[in-house]
Amino acid sequence: MFHTWIINLLLTPSAFLTYAVSVHVGTRSGLDECRHQFALDKWNCPDSATQLRGLRRATRETSFVHAISAAGVMYTLTRNCSLGDLDNCGCDVSRNGQTGGRGWLWGGCSDNVEFGESISKQYVDAQETGQDSRAAVNLHNNEAGRRAVKATMKRVCRCHGMSESCSVKTCWMQLSDFRDIGNYLKNKHKQAQKLDTDQTRLRAGNSADSRGSILDALRSIAPTELIYLEDSPDYCRRNSSVGLHGTEGRECLTRGPGPWETKSCRRLCHDCGLGVEERRVHEVTSCNCKFHWCCRVHCDRCAHVVLKHVCVRRDVHEANGSRRRHRGHRT
Ligand SMILES: *[C@@H]1O[C@H](CO)[C@@H](O)[C@H](O)[C@H]1NC(C)=O
Ligand SMILES: *[C@@H]1O[C@H](CO)[C@@H](O)[C@H](O)[C@H]1NC(C)=O
Ligand SMILES: *[C@@H]1O[C@H](CO)[C@@H](O)[C@H](O)[C@H]1NC(C)=O
Repeated sequence: MFHTWIINLLLTPSAFLTYAVSVHVGTRSGLDECRHQFALDKWNCPDSATQLRGLRRATRETSFVHAISAAGVMYTLTRNCSLGDLDNCGCDVSRNGQTGGRGWLWGGCSDNVEFGESISKQYVDAQETGQDSRAAVNLHNNEAGRRAVKATMKRVCRCHGMSESCSVKTCWMQLSDFRDIGNYLKNKHKQAQKLDTDQTRLRAGNSADSRGSILDALRSIAPTELIYLEDSPDYCRRNSSVGLHGTEGRECLTRGPGPWETKSCRRLCHDCGLGVEERRVHEVTSCNCKFHWCCRVHCDRCAHVVLKHVCVRRDVHEANGSRRRHRGHRT
């Protein structure tokens, strides 16, 4: 999953292994969040961290993967720390007792993001062993992911004093839900900047020279922004040698709160030269749940049919003799 051969002189072997489990969990949660954020995009994230390492190109999409993975690792380690899972770290209480602002004091358990950040740097950034421009871009995007964890933190307060008079208020800094970090980075993905490398030789360059020029170019970009070097490939088509699945077999929606959802069948299927097939799928869910005092919940199992829409190749679609009509334009 990760390079266990990284010798980290700052950590004892047992600490290394303890963190390694959390790094694994954090990377996984980053990839799960990626799948959620891109559920209705043509590209839908790598399957695994192994595949993530194999992503050779530095595209807009790989910039997101690097950021969300680095954020996931930082997030998991920070949570571990606050929950007391780890021996050598705990809440950040360094400011407790000090005045934070008008009418409030620092108090309680602030999430120790510095710890999570440091472990994320030691493990995630160490994967970038290359000296080329792509490695420099990946490191920048890892950092942007970690900045997102900090940027989305919230101040949470509690009132003290007689009958909630709030004569004394204490506050602490808390991580947002990981979903909020995913939303934040999805927006950064939309705004990602292509690194302006007027010398095309930089693209796959391996020399210290090209890295130097890249580092110069990077200096002009805020560390919170995602960047990429290469244009995205055609995500409609399957190309397993470069880890692209294509959109055949993907599910799309015909209903939803906005155009992003309702136009997803056009985007994923029609725009990629595929048809839409309606499938009736049997699902079993919990239903009629009743709470019994105390403390048991009893639910029935209910079967129902749900309608799903899936992108299929037109030749397969038509060979099955489907006569269904579908909304959306046809190419
Ligand atoms: C850290 O948190 C993750 C996710 O909650 C958990 O799976 C992992 O076991 C925790 N690590 C330790 C050392 O408890
Ligand atoms: C897959 O991608 C590689 C590298 O870009 C390319 O050389 C190859 O032709 C592609 N294969 C297909 C089937 O498109
Ligand atoms: C359509 O035909 C293909 C190939 O015969 C088959 O694998 C697939 O399950 C069929 N789909 C439906 C919805 O009948």
